[in-house]
Amino acid sequence: MCGIVGATAKRQVSGILIEGLLRLEYRGYDSAGIATQEISTKSFNRIRVSGKVRDLVVALSEQPIRGTGGLAHTRWATHGAPIERNAHPHIANGRIALVHNGTIENFVSLRKELEDSGRQLDSQTDSEVVAQLVDLGIESGSTFLGAVQQTVARLEGAFALGLMCSTDPGTIIAVRKGCPLVVGLGTDEHFIASDVLALRSVTNQFIFLDEGDIAVMSSGSLQIFDEQGQPVERDSIRVSDQGESVDKGSYRHYLEKEIHDQPQAIRSTLEGRITEQHISEPGLGRCVSEIFDKTSAISIVGCGTSYYAAYVAKYWIEDMAQIPCSAEIASEFRYRNAAVLDGSLFLSLSQSGESADTIAALRLAEQRNYMHTMNIGNVPTSTLMRESATAIAMRAGVEVSVASTKSFTTMLVDLLLVALLLARRRGFPREREHEIVKALHILDEAVECALLLDDRIRQLAEEFLLTQHALFLGRGVHYPVALEGALKLKEISYMHAEGYPAGELKHGPLALVDADMPVVAVAPNNELLRKVQLNLQEVRARGGRLYVFTDEAADFDHQNDVVVIEVPKVHPALSPIVFTIPLQLLAYHVATLRGTDIDQPRNIAKSVTVE
Ligand code: F6R
Repeated sequence: MCGIVGATAKRQVSGILIEGLLRLEYRGYDSAGIATQEISTKSFNRIRVSGKVRDLVVALSEQPIRGTGGLAHTRWATHGAPIERNAHPHIANGRIALVHNGTIENFVSLRKELEDSGRQLDSQTDSEVVAQLVDLGIESGSTFLGAVQQTVARLEGAFALGLMCSTDPGTIIAVRKGCPLVVGLGTDEHFIASDVLALRSVTNQFIFLDEGDIAVMSSGSLQIFDEQGQPVERDSIRVSDQGESVDKGSYRHYLEKEIHDQPQAIRSTLEGRITEQHISEPGLGRCVSEIFDKTSAISIVGCGTSYYAAYVAKYWIEDMAQIPCSAEIASEFRYRNAAVLDGSLFLSLSQSGESADTIAALRLAEQRNYMHTMNIGNVPTSTLMRESATAIAMRAGVEVSVASTKSFTTMLVDLLLVALLLARRRGFPREREHEIVKALHILDEAVECALLLDDRIRQLAEEFLLTQHALFLGRGVHYPVALEGALKLKEISYMHAEGYPAGELKHGPLALVDADMPVVAVAPNNELLRKVQLNLQEVRARGGRLYVFTDEAADFDHQNDVVVIEVPKVHPALSPIVFTIPLQLLAYHVATLRGTDIDQPRNIAKSVTVE
């Protein structure tokens, strides 16, 4: 999703801006641009490209640009195609340079108003409208800040903005309203970025702007105004370096590395959170025990893969703790008048902590009757972590590839601990907790064994090469695992895949099944195995190609039309985690064979900061 970087300093800033953009690449984007300003000449130098930051670097090497202030951007197209003309920074009337993340919902009427007043817009974007309005404000006699404030007051939607003005050289104005934006503090220099990661090479001291804040900065000064336009002080936070390497090591792609990181990520997740036999409540964070004592219902909300983690947790929590648990897609929850049961905990799940829909769901939950809000997230400085009353910090480590892998499995581990703590309060037998904890102690090894299926699955992936569709089936807690398997395959290989509860097959999707339709079944040997087998017979009878992931191959006929892949056997409570691994490998190998952009699949983004 769009990435913003800005800098105002006493040194040249183009290198800082490009480094920032490279660090934001993981978010996903389709064009990039930079504009710098020299104090002496005041005017802007701009280069934009449709494509990657590396293309921008090439363009810059052919035509270097100078400036001690500047803005840079990676754009994930929403309004208008990903072409150079629509790339940011936008420059209005040679006077205002602007970068924008988010969406301006009333841009059609604002654009019409500008066009009716004789302004010609260069791009198809909603963003340029903002630059033009600020310029119009200055033309009518406002100061730079005044024009920004008047413009912001007219905008509907969620956005973060960075602006510079040719008549106020060296000043950057930053606006945060609904989309993340941080101010980085240097010595005689200030920075802005949509993510602290972008600025880690220049500072570790940050101010997280509040909703509605407008920050005005030059190299030597910084002033922040709140939503009402009043000057405010905001605390700065030192963000410690987690010392984590974000390079691919010997792997070809971040995705491959992150799939193989999972045993270690699981070990880190469990560290200090389980004793030999039990879960250690303090290990999950402050106040968690107190909240769980009062929890009698739970709503879990997330998007994409995080939503599927919520769905798995729903099965666990209702089964073990016997309390009502709903799992809901954040973009649905936020516009729904959901009934809130007494004692309900609102739990948001998010790797990035910046998904706009999940943030909106949290803000809605705060206005409703929820007993408490909690977040499970992987980025400690994220909006969701900061705005939730309580947070459980995931320990997946930095996840760079757009497609979530280790954040899904580690989120599941955290959710299993939550389920067990809730269950403990509802009379779940201590011996059963003990059995699961014992199994958790060796979960990393089971995941390592599942990763050994890599070669086998690489061969299998060839059978998916020429096909356009696949069906993923599961039942019970493995139904969301099937959904996640299908999501992974479609997002990185661009192959159409659907997840279905196996029992639903005969209510429609069976019509799709023929010899060209691979059907992937998640079928561990549990109480539903016989039922799944019956469902799979329905597929076989229609000539479908069956790929069965099971932990007891013995129960499946080794026939030509059934490929059986044996997954390590674990405690049933942990099998959703272990069964996820081969599905990730399958998606990875199919995508590699298809030659797609594995770490930054087309059209999608890591941090989805727009609605
Ligand atoms: C899929 C994927 C997305 C994210 C979703 C939510 O592989 O990565 O579906 O899971 O955009 O992101 P977070 O968890 O950051 O809120």
